[in-house]
Amino acid sequence: MSNTQIQIFDTTLRDGEQVPGCKLNTPQKIIISKQLDLLGVDVIEAGFPVSSPGDFKSVEEISKIVKNATVCGLTRSVENDIKVAAEALKYAKKPRIHTGIGTSDSHIVHKFKSNKDAIIERAARAVSYAKSFVDDVEFYAEDAGRTDNEYLARVCEAVIKAGATVLNIPDTTGYCLPHEYGAKIKYLKENVKGIDKAIISCHCHNDLGLATANSIEGIINGARQIECTINGIGERAGNTALEEVVMIMKQHPYLNLDTNINTQMLYGISQLVSESMGIYTQPNKAIVGANAFAHSSGIHQDGVIKNRETYEIIDPKDVGVTESAIVLTARSGRAALAYRAKNVGYELTKLELDIVYAEFLNFADTKKEVIDSDIHEIIEISKIYK
Ligand code: KIV
Ligand code: ZN
Repeated sequence: MSNTQIQIFDTTLRDGEQVPGCKLNTPQKIIISKQLDLLGVDVIEAGFPVSSPGDFKSVEEISKIVKNATVCGLTRSVENDIKVAAEALKYAKKPRIHTGIGTSDSHIVHKFKSNKDAIIERAARAVSYAKSFVDDVEFYAEDAGRTDNEYLARVCEAVIKAGATVLNIPDTTGYCLPHEYGAKIKYLKENVKGIDKAIISCHCHNDLGLATANSIEGIINGARQIECTINGIGERAGNTALEEVVMIMKQHPYLNLDTNINTQMLYGISQLVSESMGIYTQPNKAIVGANAFAHSSGIHQDGVIKNRETYEIIDPKDVGVTESAIVLTARSGRAALAYRAKNVGYELTKLELDIVYAEFLNFADTKKEVIDSDIHEIIEISKIYK
């Protein structure tokens, strides 16, 4: 892997599926996995095999059908979890076990009623055990965002020694500010012995709306994998949105960071995930929301009609959206009306446009949006054609 290549680890089917009421069945997960594999993600986290027989089955079936991506199963630092995950992954061409434990004071004291040294020992033991089944073992330090850096570095060193190939540094509660998360990754790069033997991974939650910014700050500071979900779905306020981090790298070439993602599939897979889970994406969602390429104010419409790039930093075709939308509302101007009228067959002169525009404004004040069939009616009312 070149140093400019960022691995995309998709956890739509694991962390993403933790959205309340959005459970997917195995056939739905298989359809999504096939699309993720075609999309070009490097890793598919297929589930948490020990959590239920259904999840075990899904991970097993996904392992059979995925052609290119690594298939990963989540575990706690518990022997039986790891054994069960290895069993579920046995058909995978490239299996990965993702094991870990909480490392913040709050997790160590309240959740495990343990101490720092004992947690390090347990983490290393889990990694060694996972290594007895597969070569590729990722370790997560849960709540790394609120773990002090010195201790986190000790944990990382111990698990690298035990054979971890990837170090996941989750901001589990979405608490970090971008510069803090970036500094954490930099600290680990500079202070963990053996760090060059492992890839650092960003796993950011969106509780303060910072998941994407934190992940980008993480890779700028040396991480080489981002864990993310389609549409940013996930526990509470969700995870880092795959489509956002991928397009940030693509639209900012000076960052010199690249992924294997076929971006033209982004809109289609966003629709597939939202329909399968029954969670509708907010219209203003970056990249894949219904309004991401829609222009409704007169000033913007005039600019986009003259040159798309006036108000768009992404060509909609690059993410699988057929074209920008010029939405007609009472805020639209003459340029937008002329453009939409032409699309439905009316080439209006300047004088005709003035007459039709006056009727259009009266009409638009009574409706949220003026659609193509309304344009015919407005032309009729305007009496410009005898
Ligand atoms: O947010 C988190 O810490 C996680 C881990 C289980 C990887 O999802
Ligand atoms: Zn998570």
